[in-house]
Order: sequence, then structure tokens, then C-alpha cells
Amino acid sequence: MANNLLEIKQLSKTYDGKKYALSQIDLTVAEGEFIVVIGPSGAGKSTFIRSINRMIDPSEGQVIFAGTDITRAKKKQLRQIRSEIGMIFQHYNLIGRTNVLKNVLHGRLGKIPFRKTAFGLYPEKDKQEAVQLLKKVGLQEQMYQRANALSGGQMQRVGICRAIMQQPKLILADEPIASLDPNAAKVVMKQLQEITQERQITCIVNLHQVDFAKAYATRIVGVKEGKIVFDGKPQELTEAMITHIYQGKEEQQRLTQATIPVGKEQLTYGEA
Ligand SMILES: Nc1ncnc2c1ncn2[C@@H]1O[C@H](COP(=O)(O)OP(=O)(O)O)[C@@H](O)[C@H]1O
Ligand SMILES: [Mg+2]
Repeated sequence: MANNLLEIKQLSKTYDGKKYALSQIDLTVAEGEFIVVIGPSGAGKSTFIRSINRMIDPSEGQVIFAGTDITRAKKKQLRQIRSEIGMIFQHYNLIGRTNVLKNVLHGRLGKIPFRKTAFGLYPEKDKQEAVQLLKKVGLQEQMYQRANALSGGQMQRVGICRAIMQQPKLILADEPIASLDPNAAKVVMKQLQEITQERQITCIVNLHQVDFAKAYATRIVGVKEGKIVFDGKPQELTEAMITHIYQGKEEQQRLTQATIPVGKEQLTYGEA
């Protein structure tokens, strides 16, 4: 049996002191799981994922990551924990004017002294590793291009490489394919799945699209109105359950692209 990496206990979040965006979430995540969280817009998926590494502070409950209670961690400890949690964003959060290779190397910030990285002095072995990763996702030819010259799908593959460079135990991805067309989305999901499985990195990915969840998850968590209403294997997710989760918002379960209402994207990569 794999060890547990994450234990979430009675996690709740209210933004206004009245309405709960998340309500008493319990979830135990084993090492190596690839969990996809599904649910309609406003269900609480982003709040959930952001509560895990305290990009937002939960109102109640605990998040225990590799034995440490994140909800109680002080500044320095929180920084240490966050260095072990990689993030992938809907809008990629790359530095557009900087080249692809450097964007990937940014994943190593926090692992090497600032005075070195400030001058772009990454160790040679880090560069080699970044190059290998870019080869793996098929972007070796774009290595020295500015990030903003890439397509959305390519940018997200850079986002994956950057997260992996961080050598995380856990990757959190909030709607990583919501801005991509279905083909680019497929490539991104497949690469994310392959790279994390190879390295036994645990993943929690928020998605709207049920078909993508079923294709890539080892476990699906269905969220509705701030509560977990389904937790099981992809093959256990019935049509009736999907209907229940998306009740009144059925069209969202298939959406990709810009039609999805964009939430309040308040954070940026590397925010500590
Ligand atoms: N920063 C915020 N301030 C106030 N309310 C918020 C904020 N972020 C999210 N909410 C509310 O919390 C609920 C859950 O939102 P969210 O976690 O973004 O859901 P999802 O990611 O599933 O679309 C929604 O009712 C949303 O309006
Ligand atoms: Mg969201």
C-alpha cells in the first residue's frame, strides 16, 4: 500500500462569514494518485485546491501534508512546504518575455540561493535536466524562444516542466486545459499524467470536463456546492451521478475553452 501524502480533515472556507464555498471536506490522498476534481463553475474546486497550499487560508479544518499541518505552519515552514508542491495554472503564468528554458529553470527557484539565480547562474545539471524535460514534452526546438511566442498548449507544457523542475511531492493544477482546444488539451493531460506517474508525483487536477477526468484520473472527486458528493474510480462514476453533480449546469461538463467563466485569478506563480 502506498503511504498517505495528504490528509484533509473537515476543511471549510467562507469568504464572507456566511456562505460556505467549501464545507467540511474530508479527503485522504495516497502517494502517486492522480485525482481529478470535477464540478460546475462555483462548486468550490479552486477554493479547494488553493486551500491545500494556503494560497487562500481555510476558515476551519486541517491540511496535513507529509505529516505536517499546513494550516498551522509559520512563514518559514510554509515556504518549505510550498517548495514541495508544484502549481500549474489555467493561464500558465509564464514570464512571457523570457525564454522557455529559463521559465522551466524558474521551477528551481527556492532550491538554490537567491544570489545565484538573480544572475541566472543555475547549476549545469539543472540546465541539463530542464533540457531533458523539454525534449520529453517535444519542445526542444522552442527552448530559446520567448515564452509568449508559443501556443497555449505549448505554454502549458512549459508549465508542466517548470512544476516538475521543482521536484515536488505534489502537483496542484487548477483548470490546466480550460483555455485549450481539445487536441492541445489531450496532449497536455497525457504528458502531465505520464511525467507524474513516472516520477510517482501525486496530482490533484481541477477540470470541468468529465470525459477528460474519466480518461486520465486514477480517482475522481465530484464537488457540488462546496461538498464532496462523489469519490471513486472513473468507472464508478455513473451517468446519474454526473447529472447530479452538474444539475442545472449540464452544458459545463463538456466545455473547453473560453466559454468557461474565468474565476478570480488572483495569484501568480512563485507567490510566497
Ligand atoms: N475571492 C473570493 N471572494 C469571495 N467569494 C469567492 C472568492 N473566490 C470564490 N468565491 C466564491 O466561492 C464559491 C466557490 O468558488 P470557486 O472555488 O472559484 O469554484 P470553482 O473553482 O469550482 O468554479 C463561489 O460561490 C464563488 O463565488
Ligand atoms: Mg475554479
